Amino acid sequence: SNTVLTDDFGRKHNYLRISLLEKCNLRCTYCMPADGIALSPKADLMTADEIFAIAQTFVKNGVDKIRLTGGEPLLRKDFPEIVSKLSDLEVSLSITTNGILIDRHIDVLKQFNVNKINLSLDTLVSSKFHSITLRNQFEKVIDNLHLLLNSDFKVKVNVVLMKGFNENEIIDFVKLTQFLPISIRFIEFMPFAGNEWDRSKMVSQNEILSQVSTAFSSEEIQKLEDEKNFTSRNYKIKGFQGDFGIISSITNPFCDSCNRIRLTANGKIKNCLFSNSETDLLTAFRNGGSIEELISHSLKNKKKVRAGMVSISEMDDPALHFDNRSMIAIGG
Ligand code: GTP
Ligand code: 5AD
Ligand code: SF4
Repeated sequence: SNTVLTDDFGRKHNYLRISLLEKCNLRCTYCMPADGIALSPKADLMTADEIFAIAQTFVKNGVDKIRLTGGEPLLRKDFPEIVSKLSDLEVSLSITTNGILIDRHIDVLKQFNVNKINLSLDTLVSSKFHSITLRNQFEKVIDNLHLLLNSDFKVKVNVVLMKGFNENEIIDFVKLTQFLPISIRFIEFMPFAGNEWDRSKMVSQNEILSQVSTAFSSEEIQKLEDEKNFTSRNYKIKGFQGDFGIISSITNPFCDSCNRIRLTANGKIKNCLFSNSETDLLTAFRNGGSIEELISHSLKNKKKVRAGMVSISEMDDPALHFDNRSMIAIGG
């Protein structure tokens, strides 16, 4: 059988995350350094045709799920063209977005069946939105969240938790699922270049669960079955329309079931969120080389069983993670 996308630990990589660009219309402090990042020259970014051709090779080898990320993927001028091309492939296609441009693209998303949207929203308080994103777009994002729900999209809301910022909103987010059919996902703050991570700023899975079990009784809190190759462990409050989950990359990682491979906007494979080993696929592709071999090589001998995050104490060593790209240049 085809083993191009299988690593040394037997993990099959059927989920491709493609970053479309490194720019964003927000400036989230956990995602990018205050003074920005050096952007790749435009000529180094994959074109719509290159994205399609490279994705096609992945699909031929077993990828059946593609997620478009960024930066902010909806900022790509040729987003409609990219989605239209990718929709010819036998894959489920989804995006992770900050939501600001959803109203402008909703028809394209519908037309090409991109009906699952992951939306980043870290606070329910309008005045706090600016302090994390450095932009005033709270109302726009909320309007677009409702637009998506009214248009029958399946929406997951990503909430990166940070001490002293939004850990006092955990229960408000859970309560939002009473009447909204959304999946809230609380995310442990992760270290990347320029985001000033330290362990004390992180809100852990245990802390989240303990807040929830103080606010709700144990009969009300239901554990849902984990999805295959999950990032989030999910729960539901009995009778609520939506549900919530926890993405605990730091205190309870899910690397054993990792099925993800990433393509950066400048065409480099990243075999793990926390690995700085990259394989330049785009240059090989432009030179007419065989990219299958490179894809295979990027996983074999190269993907670690547990990436950069061997133990939480190791993460206190800044050299281990500040060496990585900023999140904005990876795509999450
Ligand atoms: P679904 O396909 O809906 O499950 O989405 P997802 O969780 O794979 O992707 P999304 O873009 O919504 O990311 C949510 C959070 O999970 C972000 O903080 C990501 O950085 C994190 N995440 C996604 N993939 C990985 C991964 O391979 N490893 C780790 N540690 N975290 C990841
Ligand atoms: N830690 C955890 N999640 C992060 N994201 C961005 N930066 C970080 C970080 N430092 C999330 C965004 C987005 C997803 C792709 O990754 O909120 O929803
Ligand atoms: Fe932009 Fe998303 Fe990064 Fe925030 S998390 S700066 S919205 S790419």
